[in-house]
Amino acid sequence: MEYNYEYFKKSADYILSKIDYKLDVAMILGSSLGTLADEIENPVVIDYEEIPNFLISTVESHAGKLILGQLHGKNVVCMSGRFHYYEGYDFEQLVIPIRVFKLLGVETVILTNAAGAVNTSYRPGDIMIIKDQIKLMGASPVRGPNLKEFGPRFFDVSNMYDRDLRDIAKKCAERIGLDIKEGIYYFCPGPQFETPAEIRAIRILGGDAVGMSTVTEAITAAHCGMRVLGLSLITNMAAGVLDQPVTAEEVGETGRKSSDTFKRLLKEILREI
Ligand code: HPA
Repeated sequence: MEYNYEYFKKSADYILSKIDYKLDVAMILGSSLGTLADEIENPVVIDYEEIPNFLISTVESHAGKLILGQLHGKNVVCMSGRFHYYEGYDFEQLVIPIRVFKLLGVETVILTNAAGAVNTSYRPGDIMIIKDQIKLMGASPVRGPNLKEFGPRFFDVSNMYDRDLRDIAKKCAERIGLDIKEGIYYFCPGPQFETPAEIRAIRILGGDAVGMSTVTEAITAAHCGMRVLGLSLITNMAAGVLDQPVTAEEVGETGRKSSDTFKRLLKEILREI
């Protein structure tokens, strides 16, 4: 499959045919955070299957819908359900949503995810602003022929998670009395959770939270010059921190319990950006 410019444009044109306003912000909602999309006003809901050249979400806790509309004064496009490497997609395929967002005219992306705490001062329910990321596993999502319509062959990633957006997120958290963290997101491919030995290694390497998503999206956004804000909901202590297994149930339950706080924070952030 050749992912050329026209490939992405086909998806974008289909989506644009459903709306008559300019989009401000794109959001990708991670595990159990999908209910945020329920608050979107005048929702235009498009199933992923309906969109030409898009991917299909195969994870139960991910809805698989694109929702467009208004949220706290901004025109938003929101992915309720994302695509992961562990589902069998190649890194090269994981560029699709971000490049489509770019062609929709969006310049700011909010990436959210559920993550395990490697940093032992974190607790389930905490929210971490992603300051930077570590992806040592596998190739770049923008490997292969460069599509210069999106960005240059070589590009800077030293401010991948935009400093101004991080400052706004901190200010918004303070305003609602939330003790927000800021740290490094470490990518592990999954679908197995990590071993305790891996988590110890990740801690030495500088990771504060570990998860199975987000990094390819952030790299793709950096390539096409979009501003990114990344927010991790800490759903569990990572493997080996506590003397108990890491389970999908715990991840889902913390996600549901904390979704109101997450929503309040996002609301403030949307107002400010
Ligand atoms: N590891 C990887 N991904 C995750 C975790 C974890 O502990 N929790 C939520 N997503």
